[in-house]
Amino acid sequence: MGNLALINFSICFAMLILQLGWAFEPTTYTSNFQYEIANVIREIPVPHNFTSIDGSCAYSRSDGVETFQLLNPDANRVEIRIHNKYSHGTHVFHGEVQIFPPLNDECLMQVFGSSRPGHATLFMLRGFNQSEGSLKRYNQEVLATCVYNRWVDVRIVHAQNRRIRVYIDRVKVGEWPDTDYNKTNYFKYGVYGTLGTDNAQAQWRNVRYHATTS
Ligand SMILES: *[C@@H]1O[C@H](CO)[C@@H](O)[C@H](O)[C@H]1NC(C)=O
Ligand SMILES: *[C@@H]1O[C@H](CO)[C@@H](O)[C@H](O)[C@H]1NC(C)=O
Ligand SMILES: *[C@@H]1O[C@H](CO)[C@@H](O)[C@H](O)[C@H]1NC(C)=O
Repeated sequence: MGNLALINFSICFAMLILQLGWAFEPTTYTSNFQYEIANVIREIPVPHNFTSIDGSCAYSRSDGVETFQLLNPDANRVEIRIHNKYSHGTHVFHGEVQIFPPLNDECLMQVFGSSRPGHATLFMLRGFNQSEGSLKRYNQEVLATCVYNRWVDVRIVHAQNRRIRVYIDRVKVGEWPDTDYNKTNYFKYGVYGTLGTDNAQAQWRNVRYHATTS
């Protein structure tokens, strides 16, 4: 093999590895639907089409797209809760999210669980109205801008007790250590947060998970 051929081969091989790195055999979990009205959380089997009796929140599932809506401030949660409780290993959440104006300051995905006093989560992906729609870690680091009205690929890789890595549109946008030992985590996604706008709507599709013991 000539040098050039070897280089080409190496590049292609590297790209193949890169692509293989994105694909995975999904791990299957059961999930429930949670909604919260007037500070009362209710957890029910995942419905197809749901509107709360008081009309304050809604959820629907159609052609593989899940739509989550807060319609007035009585409701502050419409979420899917994945039954993937874990206390070790590496756990991947991968899906595509789309947010719509005027959504602002709402949680779209959480790695739930914390042993720190006053904290419930290890990580939140939140949507904001700045920069034509942006995604942030909590209300801190900006992870993406110009995300209103378009599908955004989100991959969150949690190596428990080591780190959490976030990829947006397949580019690594951040990494944070996980030093909150002795906790149990699980995933949630949807819309969660006090409604400060007329409404909040987000969609998720192609959500899948992968878990390894290492
Ligand atoms: C649920 O709602 C969606 C969008 O409103 C609609 O397209 C779909 O047909 C509904 N599905 C059922 C089972 O009612
Ligand atoms: C985890 O909890 C056990 C028992 O409560 C404790 O002995 C240990 O030091 C904790 N480990 C860490 C890393 O906090
Ligand atoms: C973002 O939403 C808040 C309400 O939560 C509003 O006060 C603010 O004007 C909005 N900003 C933009 C840029 O739309």
